[in-house]
Amino acid sequence: MKIAYVVGNENVNDPDPDLDIPFAKVAAQELGIELVFANWNDQSINWAGFDAAIIRSTWDYVGVRDKFLDFTKKVESEIKLFNSYEVMKWNTDKAYLKILEKHGVPIIPTRFVNDLKEAQDAMQWAFSQAQSIAIKPAIGSGARLAGKAESIDQAIKYLERIFLDNQIAIVQPYVKSVDEEGEKAIVVINGKISHVAKKVPALTKGGHGDAAGSSEIDAEIIEIVNKVSKAVTEWEELLFARVDVVRLDGKLVLMELELTEPWLFMEFRPAAGLELFKAVQERIIGVQG
Ligand SMILES: Nc1ncnc2c1ncn2[C@@H]1O[C@H](COP(=O)(O)OP(=O)(O)O)[C@@H](O)[C@H]1O
Ligand SMILES: [Mg+2]
Repeated sequence: MKIAYVVGNENVNDPDPDLDIPFAKVAAQELGIELVFANWNDQSINWAGFDAAIIRSTWDYVGVRDKFLDFTKKVESEIKLFNSYEVMKWNTDKAYLKILEKHGVPIIPTRFVNDLKEAQDAMQWAFSQAQSIAIKPAIGSGARLAGKAESIDQAIKYLERIFLDNQIAIVQPYVKSVDEEGEKAIVVINGKISHVAKKVPALTKGGHGDAAGSSEIDAEIIEIVNKVSKAVTEWEELLFARVDVVRLDGKLVLMELELTEPWLFMEFRPAAGLELFKAVQERIIGVQG
């Protein structure tokens, strides 16, 4: 079985290595899978030559989302793709947060704004709930163009960057627990919770979503993943998911649901790599009958 592990172009200004790769290599080898690292920007690749493609560290899709989605659609017309094109189309725009909220998932209070005029009201609203506010683009990854603002003027600077990028902006109260208890990234493989990583607070400590350590799977973690799984129609078909949560007013709420290219923090549980590729094998054998 030959599987494409899909990566992106390296960004020299922001060289985040894909730390899952060593674990993926070991797991694939153990299962007898030929794993090929393939860059989605490489026009010379014959995708039909693989049994499946798994979108992984394609972090350069932000800014060229349409091109990326066209790519995934084309690959999916030829081979099995994880996660599916439809899922990625839905998941690469944080507009999905409002949909999940409607279906019972608690989220950070969120407003989407198209311009500075709309943002005025949203900023007042967010500052009425917290001392500082978070500004970020609707389509983003690795905290790109995101910022923590202590004042309206500072928030406007962040908003301007996002509008210059032709994007819709998100305005939220800044959730303080991100700097204390920490944001938790719950890694789900083939429908089952694998492990939890604690994240570095990106807007105060920097980084692009790096892990600060591992964390427990407890009843609250299970509860919020259950809520998300009920709200996402395609949950059963997902190969992987990452449910990023933070504590707000004593309860866990969703920061982000990553179904496209999440870092899976396999360093905290290398068995996750094995489970991931085993699931791919089973699904492909299922397809081939
Ligand atoms: N409302 C918020 N309160 C506190 N921190 C936030 C807030 N929104 C975003 N952040 C910080 O910015 C990071 C990136 O935001 P996120 O919504 O996860 O977008 P992405 O990871 O796609 O860039 C988060 O992991 C967190 O550290
Ligand atoms: Mg995130």
